[in-house]
Amino acid sequence: MPDVALLKDKISRREYTVGVIGLGYVGLPLVLRFGEVGFRVIGFDIDRAKVKQLNAGASYIEHVPTPRVQALLGSSRFEATADLERLGEPDAIIICVPTPLTRHRDPDLQYVEKTADAVAVTLRRHQLVCLESTTYPGTTDEVLLPRLEARGLRVGEDFFLAFSPEREDPGNLQFDTATIPKVVGGMTPACLDLATTLYGQAIKQVVPVASTRVAEATKILENVYRAVNIALVNELKIAFERMGINVWDVIEAAKTKPFGFQPFYPGPGLGGHCIPIDPFYLTWKAREYGVATRFIELAGEINAAMPGYVVHRLMDALNERGKALKGARVLVLGAAYKRDTDDPRESPGLEIIEDLIQKGARVDYSDPHLPRLPVVRRHKILLASAVLSEATLREYDAVLLVTDHSRFPYELIHRSAALIVDSRNAFRARGLGGPHVVSA
Ligand SMILES: NC(=O)c1ccc[n+]([C@@H]2O[C@H](COP(=O)([O-])OP(=O)(O)OC[C@H]3O[C@@H](n4cnc5c(N)ncnc54)[C@H](O)[C@@H]3O)[C@@H](O)[C@H]2O)c1
Repeated sequence: MPDVALLKDKISRREYTVGVIGLGYVGLPLVLRFGEVGFRVIGFDIDRAKVKQLNAGASYIEHVPTPRVQALLGSSRFEATADLERLGEPDAIIICVPTPLTRHRDPDLQYVEKTADAVAVTLRRHQLVCLESTTYPGTTDEVLLPRLEARGLRVGEDFFLAFSPEREDPGNLQFDTATIPKVVGGMTPACLDLATTLYGQAIKQVVPVASTRVAEATKILENVYRAVNIALVNELKIAFERMGINVWDVIEAAKTKPFGFQPFYPGPGLGGHCIPIDPFYLTWKAREYGVATRFIELAGEINAAMPGYVVHRLMDALNERGKALKGARVLVLGAAYKRDTDDPRESPGLEIIEDLIQKGARVDYSDPHLPRLPVVRRHKILLASAVLSEATLREYDAVLLVTDHSRFPYELIHRSAALIVDSRNAFRARGLGGPHVVSA
C-alpha cells in the first residue's frame, strides 16, 4: 500500500511533477496554471510544431497570452516534448486529448486509447493518471483501467486513476482555469484523495464525487443541457419569426424573471469541440443499455438544421430584392464558432460558406481572429479574411453575420452594406436596425 500521505506531502511541497498530454485549448491553460502555482510541468503533444512553438516561448492560442508561456519557460519549470517515452517522468499525468465523433457520429476514442497505451508502457508505482477529455460514462474504467493494469500494477495500490471533466470556456473573461470549480471522481478512495489534493493546489474549488462515472456523466449533463436549451430557442426563433415576433426581445423580457429561467440564445448552429459532439457520446453508450436518448437526438436534429435555415433566410431576403443567391456576392462575417475566439472547429460559419458556394454564390469571409480559413474536417476551402471598408462592403449583395465578434465595425457595416442578414441579433442589439437588416 503506497503512502498516500507521503505523496500528498510531496504535492504540497511542490516536489511533484505534473505531465499534461495534449496541449490544446484545454491542456495548455492547465499546464500554465500548474506551472504558475509552482509545479514542474512537462507538456506532451504528438504535434511537433506545437512543441517547438511552446519551447520557443510562443502561444498558438489567441486567449493564452505568449508572455504567460514565456514567464513559465523563464522559471525553468516547464518544457514541452513529443517524446512519449518520457511519460514515466511525471508523478501525475493529466490526459487532455481530443474525443471527436466518427463519420457515423459514434465516439472516436482512438486518441484516448493511443494515449492510454503510451502511458501504460512507462507506468510506474505511485503515478496518478487523470483523464479530462469529455467522454461517455464508463470510459475511465472500461478503456483506461484495463490498459493500465495490463502489466500487473493495481489501481489504488500501485498507481492511481481518476476522471476530472474539463470545463474550459475560451474567451470567458469572468472565469478561468483557476476559478472554474473542478469535479473529480476517483477509481478508489485513495485515487480520489490524491487527485483532489493535486487539483486543490491549482484550482480554487474542487468537487469530489462518488465515482469516475459520476464525474464523466456530470460533463455530459452540462453539455446536453446546453444543446437541448439552445435547440429549444432555435425552434422558438423559427416559430416566433413566422408570427412577426423577435425571439431576442422575448428572451430579454423572460430573463427579468429572477428564478426558474436561464437565458439561452439562438444562432446559426452549434460549433466547437463540445456541444455538437459530446451529447452523442451518451447516445451511443445508452444504446448499449437499450435506452433511447430522444431529447438529445431531437436537439441534434434542430441544431443541425440551423445553418440551412440561415441560408434560406438569406435567399428569401435576396429574392425580395429581386436577386438570386446564385451569382450573388455574399460576405460572411465570422468563421470561428464563438464570439471573440479563434476556434473554427465544427463552426457553422464554415458549413454556411460551403453551402453558399455550392449554391453558386460568390463568397468571401471576414474574421478578425482567423486571417485565413484553416483546412478543417469536411471544409476544404481556403480563403483569406476580407478587410472591411466602406468600398469593399458596398461590393456585396449581402452581408451575413454568423459570429458576433466584438471587433467587427458594426456601424461601418450597417452604413455601407446593401443587405445585412443577422443570425445573432448583433445589429439590433446595438440599435442598428432598418429595412436592410434582416434577422435570421
Ligand atoms: N476546447 C474546449 O473549450 C473544451 C472544453 C471542455 C472540454 N473539452 C474537451 O477536452 C478535450 C480536449 O479538447 P481540446 O479543445 O483541448 O482539443 P485540441 O484539439 O485543442 O487539443 C488536443 C491536443 O492533443 C494532441 N494529441 C492528440 N493525440 C495525442 C496523443 N496521442 N498524444 C499526445 N497528444 C495528442 C493534439 O495534437 C492537440 O494538440 C476534448 O475531449 C474536449 O471535448 C474541450
